[in-house]
Amino acid sequence: MTVFLRADQIDWALEKLREGHPVGLPTETVYGLAGLALDEKSLAKIFKIKNRPHFDPLIVHVLDATQARDLVSEVSALQEKLMRNFWPGPLTILFKRNSSVPDLCTAGSDWVAIRSPAHPVFRALLKKLGKALAAPSANRFGRISPTTAEQVVEELGTFGLEAVVDGGVCERGIESTVVKVLNDREIEVLRPGAVSIEKIAECVGKTVEIRMVSTAISSSVEAPGQLASHYAPRTPLDFIEDLSSIDQWKKQDLSAMALLLVTPVSEWSKLGWKFSEILSANSSDTEAASRLFGSLRRLDGMGFKKIVALKTSDIGLGIAINDRLRRAGSK
Ligand code: TXA
Ligand code: MG
Repeated sequence: MTVFLRADQIDWALEKLREGHPVGLPTETVYGLAGLALDEKSLAKIFKIKNRPHFDPLIVHVLDATQARDLVSEVSALQEKLMRNFWPGPLTILFKRNSSVPDLCTAGSDWVAIRSPAHPVFRALLKKLGKALAAPSANRFGRISPTTAEQVVEELGTFGLEAVVDGGVCERGIESTVVKVLNDREIEVLRPGAVSIEKIAECVGKTVEIRMVSTAISSSVEAPGQLASHYAPRTPLDFIEDLSSIDQWKKQDLSAMALLLVTPVSEWSKLGWKFSEILSANSSDTEAASRLFGSLRRLDGMGFKKIVALKTSDIGLGIAINDRLRRAGSK
């Protein structure tokens, strides 16, 4: 049985964490399954509860840049700038780790991924604990990330999760952007997320090149955690990238299928779907991102033969939304 804790009952969660038991915690992006980042026993439990393969490293959550510095061997000027501009918030930055960070946390890599979450409940815990917390999204491996405490229990309740702190619905609804700073002039985006690439570009200026490396999907483990099939609903999902394929859909029986639109696309809505949903009627990318996973989860529970999702434009958070839908549809 998983215990639901109110946001003002974090002392019990703290006790669990200190004893080495992972706890579900709210962040501004999605709920995380948190455990002591420097404690191998806690890390092993996180992998076990999530059924996560050990080659997929975890993000370490810290209160601030000072706490991050304790975990890394060096901080470049560009990394410093990113921390100053985006923390606390949904930007995860890779650093060269120091020897305090266990191999299990980074999957043996020399790089450790660190972010400072903005959610007040998570921050209150970090402050009282005085230690960094590793936290992957609180879903079983390959499934849709949870954005409410109830969904955390649905995902992990029967797999040994002892407690979740209820911090309400996650405001951003989509995971952090993960970046690797190669040098003063190059940044790689390993996972598009809640901080748009445009915002990063604005911060670092024109002299820094920002490259997306995550859109090329392969099932190899070169980019850990970026496996093609991820965020998967149980209902088959078709992700339509080429909107001119509409004529083929007109010929099909759509009466048991649901259409998922990021923004309104009337030609597609008019077809004979059983159900259709628009993530943001007024085409706001932040609203669409915040509703994406909840909507996928709900549609998944409605018994359709298929969910058909349309690509949105690759602008702002559109890149991250398309990335999640593409993976949700990957077989
Ligand atoms: O918003 C978020 O980032 C949420 C909340 C809970 O903070 N966390 C999250 O964690 O999405 P997770 O484990 O579901 O995704 C972490 C991603 C994975 O794609 C993983 O491979 C990548 O970050 N990652 C973590 N450490 C890495 C490392 N050392 N090198 C390369 N990629 C890394
Ligand atoms: Mg995840």
